[in-house]
Amino acid sequence: MRRRTTVQSLITVATVLLLIVGTARLLLDNFTLKSNDRQIFQLYSEPEVYRQRTPVFASSKAQIGESCNVSGGKWIWDNKTYPVYTEESCPYLSNQTSCQRNGRPDSFYQKWRWQPDGCNLPWFDPLKLLDILSGKRLMFIGDSIQRGQFESMVCMVQSVIPEGKKSFQTIPTMEIFKAEEYNASIEFYWAPFIVESISDHATNHTVLKRLVYLDSITNQGKSWQGVDIHGSSDDIKEYNVTTAYRWALETWANWLESNINPLTQKVYFMSMSPKHLWSWEWKPGSNENCFNESYPIQGSYWGTGSSFTIMKIIQDILQELKIDVTFLNITQMSEYRKDAHTSVYGERRGILLTKEQRADPKKFADCMHWCLPGVPDTWNEILYAHLLQNHRHFL
Ligand SMILES: *[C@@H]1O[C@H](CO)[C@@H](O)[C@H](O)[C@H]1NC(C)=O
Ligand SMILES: *[C@@H]1O[C@H](CO)[C@@H](O)[C@H](O)[C@H]1NC(C)=O
Ligand SMILES: *[C@@H]1O[C@H](CO)[C@@H](O)[C@H](O)[C@H]1NC(C)=O
Ligand SMILES: *[C@@H]1O[C@H](CO)[C@@H](O)[C@H](O)[C@H]1NC(C)=O
Ligand SMILES: *[C@@H]1O[C@H](CO)[C@@H](O)[C@H](O)[C@H]1NC(C)=O
Ligand SMILES: *[C@@H]1O[C@H](CO)[C@@H](O)[C@H](O)[C@H]1NC(C)=O
Ligand SMILES: *[C@@H]1O[C@H](CO)[C@@H](O)[C@H](O)[C@H]1NC(C)=O
Ligand SMILES: *[C@@H]1O[C@H](CO)[C@@H](O)[C@H](O)[C@H]1NC(C)=O
Repeated sequence: MRRRTTVQSLITVATVLLLIVGTARLLLDNFTLKSNDRQIFQLYSEPEVYRQRTPVFASSKAQIGESCNVSGGKWIWDNKTYPVYTEESCPYLSNQTSCQRNGRPDSFYQKWRWQPDGCNLPWFDPLKLLDILSGKRLMFIGDSIQRGQFESMVCMVQSVIPEGKKSFQTIPTMEIFKAEEYNASIEFYWAPFIVESISDHATNHTVLKRLVYLDSITNQGKSWQGVDIHGSSDDIKEYNVTTAYRWALETWANWLESNINPLTQKVYFMSMSPKHLWSWEWKPGSNENCFNESYPIQGSYWGTGSSFTIMKIIQDILQELKIDVTFLNITQMSEYRKDAHTSVYGERRGILLTKEQRADPKKFADCMHWCLPGVPDTWNEILYAHLLQNHRHFL
């Protein structure tokens, strides 16, 4: 009940709200379930003036836009520019993402720049972003992956705001960073929205039939106004992944259509964040995970965890939506980054790994979450590029 109230009140003040919500991702393996990790989604909203179609840029090395596909490209070593902040310089980083503080010996993972094939990402200017966010709320909604992206965004902007003019507040299910002089806030709302899968086997990807706990999404869904609830809480039914995923996304889409005011709110949708659980996928013959990986994968790569079928379903559902949702396709670029996960230098169920656990990477490496500074900074650079382009065009 409490949560529902929170969500409703967020929505009613949405005229100046950069609202965020998300969609469902199936949990496809035991690791994920054990680590208590949840689904992703993300919505972002802004006043109507920013919503118009963006122009196609003439220049060949154009800014991001309809003319530039940022999902194709490569990671370039750039230790001059990166990282854009450090663990020490950002007081808001959590233990979960602070890999250096937790003993990670290498820091190469912080120093790569994403270079799209057909364009350049604009230089991230925190003052400019604050300007754009002025009088608005930018809200990340989802699970711990979104939380990492939220932390990244806060760290990317906070250094330009003097002490006393910024605040960080944690209240149950929410975290709020405020830049007072801009009347802007960057927020995270904990709302994992999932369909849990219990029958997956870490090494048997050919299993198409999976058991899905419908009550999981039911329970989570209750906190979201207007979510159509399928199945009773004691129901366990069998679905194949595709069906279950489509169902979950349709539920999400229905929710969006009945709750988002497209005149005042803008939705951004993050594609799946990949995992690197099995090293044989990039290093045939090996049997490890992302632990001790220090470099991105070179050349083309797509892990088995990121399903094209699911991508296609997302695409279909976004296209059918009556509201305009911008899809941020970060899966491919993140697929290369086997080196950038927290591995054994993070937390498990909210508690830092012990020395003994760290010594057992086969069992304890987390190959799903990301160290910061790191890959989520690039996701935010892409989000920034979209905001910047719309802003420029309408000023
Ligand atoms: C973008 O580039 C990627 C990788 O090169 C490709 O798979 C994808 O289809 C492209 N998307 C569009 C919309 O052109
Ligand atoms: C940056 O990387 C280059 C090439 O690896 C290296 O020679 C140089 O020392 C590095 N600079 C810094 C500041 O780390
Ligand atoms: C982060 O880890 C340190 C060291 O274990 C611990 O003292 C601190 O309470 C942790 N912080 C949070 C917010 O959990
Ligand atoms: C600050 O922003 C909020 C929305 O986030 C808006 O409701 C409020 O009117 C703004 N206050 C001022 C003083 O501009
Ligand atoms: C994978 O799962 C399928 C369906 O349950 C089963 O028939 C097959 O034997 C399994 N393969 C392995 C290698 O366990
Ligand atoms: C999943 O189930 C649906 C509906 O039962 C069916 O149409 C579809 O072909 C199945 N997909 C796979 C990959 O088995
Ligand atoms: C990490 O990998 C390097 C080679 O890339 C190897 O020499 C080293 O022993 C590995 N460390 C551990 C702890 O496995
Ligand atoms: C996202 O990017 C991947 C790889 O670059 C591509 O295969 C996929 O079709 C894209 N998804 C959508 C929905 O555009």
